[in-house]
Amino acid sequence: MALETSCDETAVAILAGTDLRTSLVSSQIALHQPYGGVVPEVASRNHLTQLQPLISEACKEAGVALGQIDAFAATSGPGLASSLLIGSSAAKGLAVALQKPYLAVNHLEGHLISPFFGGEIQPAIGLIVSGGHTILIDLDQFGEYRVLGRTRDDAAGEAFDKVGKLLGLPYPGGPEIDRLARQGDPERYQFPRGMLNSNDFQFSFSGLKTAVRYLLPKLEHANLADICASFQEAVVEVLVEKTLRAAAHAGKRLIAVSGGVSCNSRLRERFAEATRKRGLELLVAEARFCTDNAAMIAFVARESYRRGRFSSLGVDINPNLGIGA
Ligand code: KG4
Ligand code: ZN
Repeated sequence: MALETSCDETAVAILAGTDLRTSLVSSQIALHQPYGGVVPEVASRNHLTQLQPLISEACKEAGVALGQIDAFAATSGPGLASSLLIGSSAAKGLAVALQKPYLAVNHLEGHLISPFFGGEIQPAIGLIVSGGHTILIDLDQFGEYRVLGRTRDDAAGEAFDKVGKLLGLPYPGGPEIDRLARQGDPERYQFPRGMLNSNDFQFSFSGLKTAVRYLLPKLEHANLADICASFQEAVVEVLVEKTLRAAAHAGKRLIAVSGGVSCNSRLRERFAEATRKRGLELLVAEARFCTDNAAMIAFVARESYRRGRFSSLGVDINPNLGIGA
């Protein structure tokens, strides 16, 4: 059983071998919407009230009793400290009470390997694009990761959400922009492609957000759909191009894309096109595993469990936990 409470989703999953018996996500998006972003105190308080009923519901749905669970896992970082504490304390408590192993799981590793769910993890270039992270990783095998680059400022999802806010769209802006962009012209406005030719694997999205902010007052008849499509195109182009370069650099034939922004329809389209052209393979996380969920945490826990790697109950949460070397 895995618990995920690193940000604004309370999630519980039960995995039996490769069989995902249940994966429940109780989203707090509506609670944070009036604030235009996640409020940490509101998030942790809600994890506390949501988690126990969700665990009971998960057991019922999976048709198992708590006593039949082999191990308890929880996200231990990165994320909001007060939110991480709720899930990790609950998993540790269950492990102690039922005398079963505890596994502390890295949220980023959950995203990274989520495209492989149900199968074997293979060497790949992993791109994690979420609300909090934009990271390119050279993945050799489970547990062996080398960070090639990351964002210097805003994460890709953060850029979507901030631009969504500028455009007066509801939180989170990512899915809204994706939807509106379908009716828009991606070439109508020329937005900057941050660090596209920087000769490394770093990203920068804050200039793009500023470009949208400066453009808005100049437009008399701004076409919202065109702005969304042009902005999205700029983000997607940089992500796809740099990931392909990373694959060539590391000699990897497979690209594995994960995180909330990997739900984006244009990102999926352009990755599919680009990998087909270059004869590379592509794995994108299933839509239900893109945004935060506990199934990906259970998947990491199972891989660790198979290898006999457990965590001591002394392992604390780490809001700034990184990944790989
Ligand atoms: O992985 P996730 O649930 O949370 C983090 O671990 O950060 O990702 C949430 C992010 C939000 O920024 C949201 O706007 C973005 O994923 N997102 C999207 C789409 N769906 C979710 N961004 C662009 N297009 C989408 N369709
Ligand atoms: Zn996440």
